[in-house]
Amino acid sequence: MNRTKIAGIGYYVPERVIPNSELVNLMDTSDEWIQERTGIQQRRYGKPHQETTTTMGAKAAEIAIERAGIQKEDVDLIIFATLSPDYFFPGCGVLVQRELKITHKEMPALDIRNQCSGFVYGLSIADAFIKSGQHKNILLIGSEMHSMGLDFTDRGRNVTVIFGDGAGAVILQPTEQNEGILSTHLHADGTHAEELAFINPGCHGGYHLGQERFGYPDAEYGGIFMTEKMWNDQDIFPNMNGQLVFKTAVTKFPEVIHEALKSNQLNTTDINMLVPHQANLRISQFVQRSLGLKDDQVWNNIQKYGNTTAASIPIALCEAWEAGKIKSGDLVCLAAFGSGFTWGSALIRW
Ligand SMILES: CC(C)(COP(=O)(O)OP(=O)(O)OC[C@H]1O[C@@H](n2cnc3c(N)ncnc32)[C@H](O)[C@@H]1OP(=O)(O)O)[C@@H](O)C(=O)NCCC(=O)NCCS
Repeated sequence: MNRTKIAGIGYYVPERVIPNSELVNLMDTSDEWIQERTGIQQRRYGKPHQETTTTMGAKAAEIAIERAGIQKEDVDLIIFATLSPDYFFPGCGVLVQRELKITHKEMPALDIRNQCSGFVYGLSIADAFIKSGQHKNILLIGSEMHSMGLDFTDRGRNVTVIFGDGAGAVILQPTEQNEGILSTHLHADGTHAEELAFINPGCHGGYHLGQERFGYPDAEYGGIFMTEKMWNDQDIFPNMNGQLVFKTAVTKFPEVIHEALKSNQLNTTDINMLVPHQANLRISQFVQRSLGLKDDQVWNNIQKYGNTTAASIPIALCEAWEAGKIKSGDLVCLAAFGSGFTWGSALIRW
């Protein structure tokens, strides 16, 4: 049976470097606090009004396309994962198609959410399309422009210091060789959906599961996307229950990695490179310890880029590959956890 291989990979991060010291000027935080709790030293921010999630995604895509040795016109499906889209709708899939100037191809463009698990979810979808024979050159992009949607006051400091901008992309193709995606495992549990979320504006109108939870009961018809109260309260930014996210992540990461290894009759010692979603260096280190992996079996770059959500795995994977740390025949494990909660893993024979 055909497998799906990564035929080309690329990433793009904006030029503007934001060290922790720059955030200290904007909110009550410190370089020590950020580094000690998250490992992050700096992140990148895109140029407002010039760069967007779509334009960054297109730049990463162009590199992946070139490395795959194909033309842009050869792409026959676009899958775009982001939680920070340019518009509420349409999604970034069609926007990146236009940015890449391949609208004449009229190929389908699929937008997926799944936040920090977006890239692994996208890989799983692409794998199914390739195996079905429906598509032969799938462009999968994970891209985020978080900097335009964060709260740069003290109130948002626990979230804002973590996130950065960037994009990663891969071209996926069928292969008959002993390589490619061995398996993907995806999971979700919506119980704690609001514990790591960007809720307003939205059509919930103030109600959550029948409860007057958010305090915006004024909207009967229309006007529910942005009420005056939301604006006055500045309740229009992402929120996170950091401790719950941390506790759940350190359980689910190892669980879903073991699930992947078991289903392929492999062990942690078989992993050449684990590329975890870059949520927090402490989470990655915890996962590394619980799996008994050595330092050279895990790739971390959150120190430089912060958490770039759907982009974090393809950026890290590309960096590891460019650094010569992933070679042909290596077993690569990708694992993600994030808002939803959603989580997943992918095992790839490179
Ligand atoms: C966010 C995170 C770093 C916070 O660390 P923590 O040890 O849980 O910290 P807490 O939220 O308990 O807050 C501890 C104190 O630090 C303060 N604090 C929060 N953010 C701060 C910041 N940026 N700078 C300084 N102090 C901060 C809090 O207000 C709190 O102060 P208090 O004790 O006076 O009330 C941590 O919970 C975490 O990493 N969670 C996982 C987040 C994650 O991975 N998200 C992405 C998921 S994909």
